Amino acid sequence: MEGNNMENSMSLMEAQKKEREWLLHTYRRFPVLFVEGRGTKLWDDRGKEYLDMAAGLGTCVLGHAHPSVAKAVSEVVFRLQHVCNLYYTEPQLRLAEELVSRSFPGKVFLCNSGTEANEAAIKLVRKYMRVRGEERYVIVSALRSFHGRTLGSLAATGQPDKAVPFSPLPQGFIHVPFNDLGAMEEALRDPRVSAVMLEPIQGEAGVYPASQEYLHGVAELCRERGALLVLDEVQTGMGRTGELFAWQRYGVRPDVMTLAKGLANGLPIGAVVASVEVAQAMAPGDHGSTFGGNPVTCAAALATLRTLQEEDLLENASRVGDHMRRRLWEVSQSLGAGFEVRGAGLMLALEVEGMDAWEVALRCLARGLVVNPVGPQTLRFLPPLCLSREEVDVAAGILAAVLEEMKGSEVAS
Ligand SMILES: Cc1ncc(COP(=O)(O)O)c(C=O)c1O
Repeated sequence: MEGNNMENSMSLMEAQKKEREWLLHTYRRFPVLFVEGRGTKLWDDRGKEYLDMAAGLGTCVLGHAHPSVAKAVSEVVFRLQHVCNLYYTEPQLRLAEELVSRSFPGKVFLCNSGTEANEAAIKLVRKYMRVRGEERYVIVSALRSFHGRTLGSLAATGQPDKAVPFSPLPQGFIHVPFNDLGAMEEALRDPRVSAVMLEPIQGEAGVYPASQEYLHGVAELCRERGALLVLDEVQTGMGRTGELFAWQRYGVRPDVMTLAKGLANGLPIGAVVASVEVAQAMAPGDHGSTFGGNPVTCAAALATLRTLQEEDLLENASRVGDHMRRRLWEVSQSLGAGFEVRGAGLMLALEVEGMDAWEVALRCLARGLVVNPVGPQTLRFLPPLCLSREEVDVAAGILAAVLEEMKGSEVAS
């Protein structure tokens, strides 16, 4: 392990006890206490090394503890930790300029998470229509989508089981099947529709990409009906699919894009980029955030954007992602299984049909591989974008051994 002071570390058992005692039980956790990370590697409290294919749920795009981010953060943190948005600070202005120059002409709102970015997008869409004097407030999103857990984003999320215990949710959301252009066309007949909100690749649902025809078709329908297209790039953004933003793969430019996860390589930040016309709808007092645009996280985001380019990580995500897709498919073939592999770049999923994905992930962990189960039989891979082909081969070897061991075991649910 690189430099960890073991004597100061809490043990896993202590951590589990403290969690039971002090934390709301909102997470099902794996039995591991991570104390250090570097690049694609993590170390636990006992010094055991892991290859990380989850990267903080897709946030650590540059890899853990990247020196460029650490340096940028420490420079700012010793100078100015926070002042709020009543005043100007340099990193947020530079970040806004950078995001616009890498996406489309527009303006930026900065916040602290993906769900907040989507909340801001929802308010922006409503205000835009209000300013134009149009009574249009309904947002159409997709079934199985995930847009966050605050009430507005939860209302946009197309997974009723996540929302039902918290009803009533805000009104004005319609859900249609994903990749079904006919259903979208039907929904857009409703004159109250203001926008369509979609993930270019549904991540949390298990990595389901929109088809080219679908995304182009939806954009065309939005144009015809005067509705806005909001793309949620919280998970697909920041190079994950081999382009900085997934809409660039499709050649479909949104009116509004939301970002978070990888934007500051694991530090909490969110952003909305809105076209110039849409952005004009917002006025002082309409929206805000105490921490949004904080100098430390913005400096981290600037360092992340710069390093993605300097280290050619988009190209790496694309190349190593293709290799990984192939290797996952080969693993499945070697078991005689024909499991489905989905995704783009380094955002991939493997259906482990007939097996319990949580159990697969547990056994991978025991062998030093971190993978993320996102459904009863679905494993998701969101590794750092600096992953190498050799590391893919190591991961494939571990996965093959675990799946072979589990062949024929019962499905949990
Ligand atoms: C596409 C998408 N949107 C929004 C969110 C919510 O982001 P956060 O957890 O930062 O609020 C997520 C999180 O997984 C996501 O994948």
